[in-house]
Amino acid sequence: MRAVGVTEFGGPEALHVLDVPAEPLGPGQVRLRVEAATVNPTDTYSRSGAYAGRDPVKTPPWVPGMDVAGVVTEVGEGVGHLTVGDLAMGIVLPSGPHGGYREDKVLPGGSVVRAPAGTDAVAASTLPMNGLTARLALDLMELRPGQVLAVTGAAGAFGGYVVQLAKADGLTVVADAGEADEDLVRGLGADVVVRRGDDVADRIREHFPEGVDGLADGSVQDALVLPAVKDGGAVATVRGYRGDGQRGLRFFPTLVRRVAEDRAALDRLRQQVEDGVLTLRVAQTFPAEHAAEAHRLLERGGVRGRLVLTF
Ligand SMILES: NC(=O)c1ccc[n+]([C@@H]2O[C@H](COP(=O)([O-])OP(=O)(O)OC[C@H]3O[C@@H](n4cnc5c(N)ncnc54)[C@H](OP(=O)(O)O)[C@@H]3O)[C@@H](O)[C@H]2O)c1
Repeated sequence: MRAVGVTEFGGPEALHVLDVPAEPLGPGQVRLRVEAATVNPTDTYSRSGAYAGRDPVKTPPWVPGMDVAGVVTEVGEGVGHLTVGDLAMGIVLPSGPHGGYREDKVLPGGSVVRAPAGTDAVAASTLPMNGLTARLALDLMELRPGQVLAVTGAAGAFGGYVVQLAKADGLTVVADAGEADEDLVRGLGADVVVRRGDDVADRIREHFPEGVDGLADGSVQDALVLPAVKDGGAVATVRGYRGDGQRGLRFFPTLVRRVAEDRAALDRLRQQVEDGVLTLRVAQTFPAEHAAEAHRLLERGGVRGRLVLTF
């Protein structure tokens, strides 16, 4: 089976086409003929070896990739929600050669649902991982309709989904944007858009002097954004930051791994795309063998919409 990954950790150039064994299909599992696999920031860490310590697989190759979409080619015993021939999307928890950058992928049935009607594999692949993370961040914070949520990194994949899901939940949303992204972020539904930067907390307080009820920190600015949040407020972080114990702030380190088999949540995201609540954004596609180019582009910053590898 054709895959893209590394045999030695390194820069983008370490990525190359690999031949990997097919994965066996067990009960409750689904096999996809992968057509599209997204390139997420976390993939660059898998590639460079930053996650090597936590991967139980200690021998090469390593294949990155956390979401895929393609056609169902086989379903295991007990899988009732998909049939062969369906276009489906799924979240992948990569380990060793079992990441998403491969033409054939077996996943737990709970990690795969039908692609939203009217979308192709490329667009559908951009939803599972960041959509589930955004949903989890909101669920952990438990804000009530009418409360105020701040979102940083709102032009990004995670932040963009948080803005759209939060609006659908009935929250008031203040989101950050660079000058060039203001229309984009307003278009996602943010009620108030403030200029991004190290002083983003001050900008948010100008509009909400008492502070916001919750904050989802998609730009990973950590301590810099905390002054935006009122005493006792909620903060969802995506790279493990747990704050400094001040002002009774409640921290929710958000790990998508926890909800990777929450099929109901994934299927609800599918429905929200079909209902026009969520927008799927693709920046550019690359044939899988050009994965290094996609990683270079992502690491340079400024990409809006997801980069997607095609198989
Ligand atoms: N824990 C989990 O389970 C989990 C799941 C999903 C995502 N994540 C993490 O969440 C983060 C966001 O992911 P993503 O896919 O949304 O990334 P993304 O699409 O690159 O979005 C990040 C956004 O933040 C902006 N940004 C970066 N640094 C900034 C700064 N110092 N000030 C203001 N804005 C800044 C980026 O702008 P530029 O492009 O202009 O730099 C971009 O708009 C990543 O660190 C990712 O690894 C974690």
